[in-house]
Amino acid sequence: MNGWKLVYDAWDPQAEPLREALCTVGNGYFATRGAAAESRADATHYPGTYIAGCYNRLQTEISGRTIENESLVNAPNWLTLGFRIEGGDWFDIDAVEVLSYHQELDLAQGILLRSLRFRDPSGRHTRIEQHRLASMAAPHLGAQLVLIRAEDWSGAIEVCSALNGCVVNAGVARYRDLNHHHLAPLTADTGADGSQLLEMETNQSHIRIALAATTRLWRNGSLVEVEPDCRREDGYVAHHYRLEIEPAQPLRIEKISALYTSRDRAISAPGLEARKAVADAAPFSRLAERHALVWQQLWQHFDFDLEHETAGTGERTERILRLHLFHLLQTTSPHVMDLDVGVPARGLHGEAYRGHIFWDELFVFPLFNLRMPEITRALLRYRYRRLGEARRAARAAGCRGAMFPWQSGSNGREESQRLHLNPESGNWIPDNSHLQRHINAAVAYNTWQYYQATRDVEFLSFYGAEMILEIARFWAGVATYNNQRKRYEILGVMGPDEHHDSYPGAEQPGLDNNAYTNLMAVWVLSRALELWDILPGQRLTELCQSLDLSREELTHWDEVSRSMYIPFHGKGIISQFDGYETLEEFDWEGYRKRYGDIQRLDRILEAEEDTPNRYQVSKQADVLMLFYLFSSEELSELFERLDYPFEYETIPRNIDYYMQRTSHGSTLSRVVHSWVLARSNRPGCWPLFMEALESDVADIQGGTTQEGIHTGAMAGTVDLVQRCFTGIETRGNVLWLNPSLPEGLKSLNLKIRYRGHQLALHMTPTHLRISTEPSAEQPISIGIRTAVHQLNPGEMRQFELQRDG
Ligand code: BGC
Repeated sequence: MNGWKLVYDAWDPQAEPLREALCTVGNGYFATRGAAAESRADATHYPGTYIAGCYNRLQTEISGRTIENESLVNAPNWLTLGFRIEGGDWFDIDAVEVLSYHQELDLAQGILLRSLRFRDPSGRHTRIEQHRLASMAAPHLGAQLVLIRAEDWSGAIEVCSALNGCVVNAGVARYRDLNHHHLAPLTADTGADGSQLLEMETNQSHIRIALAATTRLWRNGSLVEVEPDCRREDGYVAHHYRLEIEPAQPLRIEKISALYTSRDRAISAPGLEARKAVADAAPFSRLAERHALVWQQLWQHFDFDLEHETAGTGERTERILRLHLFHLLQTTSPHVMDLDVGVPARGLHGEAYRGHIFWDELFVFPLFNLRMPEITRALLRYRYRRLGEARRAARAAGCRGAMFPWQSGSNGREESQRLHLNPESGNWIPDNSHLQRHINAAVAYNTWQYYQATRDVEFLSFYGAEMILEIARFWAGVATYNNQRKRYEILGVMGPDEHHDSYPGAEQPGLDNNAYTNLMAVWVLSRALELWDILPGQRLTELCQSLDLSREELTHWDEVSRSMYIPFHGKGIISQFDGYETLEEFDWEGYRKRYGDIQRLDRILEAEEDTPNRYQVSKQADVLMLFYLFSSEELSELFERLDYPFEYETIPRNIDYYMQRTSHGSTLSRVVHSWVLARSNRPGCWPLFMEALESDVADIQGGTTQEGIHTGAMAGTVDLVQRCFTGIETRGNVLWLNPSLPEGLKSLNLKIRYRGHQLALHMTPTHLRISTEPSAEQPISIGIRTAVHQLNPGEMRQFELQRDG
């Protein structure tokens, strides 16, 4: 990393899949991996392009069963731009001697650059430079600029510029036994203006994808008028240009592409729009300028500034945090405001988890809520549009209300796979992860947090409240009363820890009283009842009428929210689920010695014909999620409501207990552990923060990032700076701040938005300065530690902080 850039200075075929994911360029509408323009999918290269929300389903026979999977489709490749010299082989980096290599992703400008110098087998020296962008200013456009310079030869060069729809979803090795042909060819055409048009259609969801391109060549600054040869096949159209070059006459090629689908709004037909867009498109330099301007504007909203005590030490940290923001913005840019899309857990950067949307948005939305909440609003509407499907799922499971799916794609049906492949053993094993009903609570939590940050009553009134009420209804309905315990219980679910899906030896999957799920259910029920203090009476009456909500039902919700069972053991340790503490202790030392990396213990144990279900091991934070999502004040309110004792001192004991039993098999886990430690053991949080930070850039899971970035961990690390180090909490109409900078951090500057205000925060270990920009907004309440103050527009306040050791 260097400045605002991610830089690689040598060609390394083995690292290429990871670099491709990390060098993805995108704009929220589509994203394209950082694969070389001339490359084709093979063991080293995988030029994938993904259009947000473009899913397709396919069936496959596996182990005697027919399974159906929905995938984010690898769209036609718009990059293809190759060349060959004197009729020889097409340029292939693996077949030449690379003399110098430089690749950089410019985070400030949003441009990917690759330049290299090589000697080919005939001894000729050539230099190439490739620039690429996915326009943040015009989201249907992708543009490439390629410069080719013959150093010590002159002769014929043939350039091939193609649109290639003959692509499949083959980016994840363990899915290769599944059907992966999603696209059927429709049109492969060339226009009188020299443009190309390719139209394909997904073979189940029937989304029409149109890709158009124009290619222009300049030699020594003058446009080359050369008639290309056209090659057309089903799903493929190419133009071949032949011309002469020499050292004094470098070749410049510009290829501008436009991508549309039948899901787009304000279009006639995708093909027409794509053609029109490339015909109208400005040259590369102009497109790059407009694109960089929008990136510059985005950075004004999203940047931050960290100052470390030892000069120079924090540079890498800051660059990685920016890389994370960059990829998050490429996945869910402001362009999603006009789209029907969610946040795929692995971005638009690869095919892992088939582009599905999980609970990971719980880690992503808080970041946007305080920077550009309009993005969260758009992404929450993805959920709202699928409320009908969530109701249907609840009904089918014999429940009331809404049950959002663990994995969501096109229409909000449950997309979790029923079988998954353990690459360690080669076995296809049952996948019960759909039992993670806690996703439902996450949808309600996200809706509530969005409201808290924005006071967007309109959203809450027309969309949010209905989701919260239907989710509350679900929880009240699945909670069963245990006469002996005199408490409500939730049985047969999975918590966030995916290492446990059933009791050892049990015939049925599911665990009882997952503490996280139970407490989240209580929280949702309490917030649902609080809607009566927020929404206008008329709207509440309408909602009650249309949802058939009676006073008795609300009374029942209140009762469940006050008498839910939470399992405990030892001295105030919250049990992950009923009986977790009775499971066997795990031989961490022994397994670490034998296997080294034991993040994915589930796979290791299954390959040994054992199961993590037998042990006190957690893949990721589960109980500790509670300390991540709630401040100790909020937790003590919840426990008080339930009439359970809650002492602040038990928090570090819980953290200790689960720290020792967690393998961090999910990149989300370190974010949560670091967060909870930041409050109770400040020095302990930094190493975990550093590891979380390296999740993708160093691919700490050894091979997962190449299949897509981890949006939750990327956002979670930035949010550690934004909300954890600052102690920001948006609760009860107050913006709470409780700064606690980690050791070694001298100051932190941050701009956030809260309820219509633009706030600038400056923090040091001893001081907090907060100012608002002048505006016509109402004053806001800010809570510093425990005292609440009023802050008017245009005001600046400074507070002294006591370091609490
Ligand atoms: C984690 C889940 C997460 C999913 C997608 C899994 O490995 O256990 O919590 O939602 O990945 O990121």
